Amino acid sequence: MKKFILCIGIVALVVGLNACKSEKEKEEACAPTSLNPNGDSELALLMRDMAKLSEANAIALREGKELAPYKGEFTPMKKAERTMKDLDETFFQGMSDIYLANMQKLYEAKPEDRISLHNNVVESCQACHNQICPGPLKRIDKMLVKL
Ligand code: HEC
Repeated sequence: MKKFILCIGIVALVVGLNACKSEKEKEEACAPTSLNPNGDSELALLMRDMAKLSEANAIALREGKELAPYKGEFTPMKKAERTMKDLDETFFQGMSDIYLANMQKLYEAKPEDRISLHNNVVESCQACHNQICPGPLKRIDKMLVKL
């Protein structure tokens, strides 16, 4: 009986925590979570890391500091499993190439070129999200750095 009550408790906790997924996160996600009952897609997880990295870079560049480390971790985005399956594949692949090329240019650049190249990266996020899902745009817009 005790075990049964414990089980109910755990189930209630998990359900409760899920429902508590912050409003902010829901607003930013591209696909409703109901579309993906198995949890977050590979692409959604990658996107969160991409967002964190560009946010860290925006802060670093404003403060004249070094970029956050990046070694091509986002290349798998083109093949990553995703929630939004009905995207125009040609558009998605093309925009991914532009984003990845902009990241590479940023990390190969001389320090004095980094701000404008970082902004190119952010503009490639905006270009894709403008077309496919505007939810995260508010957050993305804040990643631009004034020259
Ligand atoms: C080539 C198109 C493309 C580019 C470029 C792109 N995204 Fe996304 N983004 C997507 C798609 C598609 C999803 C939905 C993920 C899914 O289907 O699982 C997404 C989802 C997201 C999410 C929501 C993740 C979640 O928790 O569900 C955030 C935040 C995000 N992107 C931020 C960014 C940022 C920041 C950049 C640039 C650094 C960026 N994106 C570049 C296509 C793109």
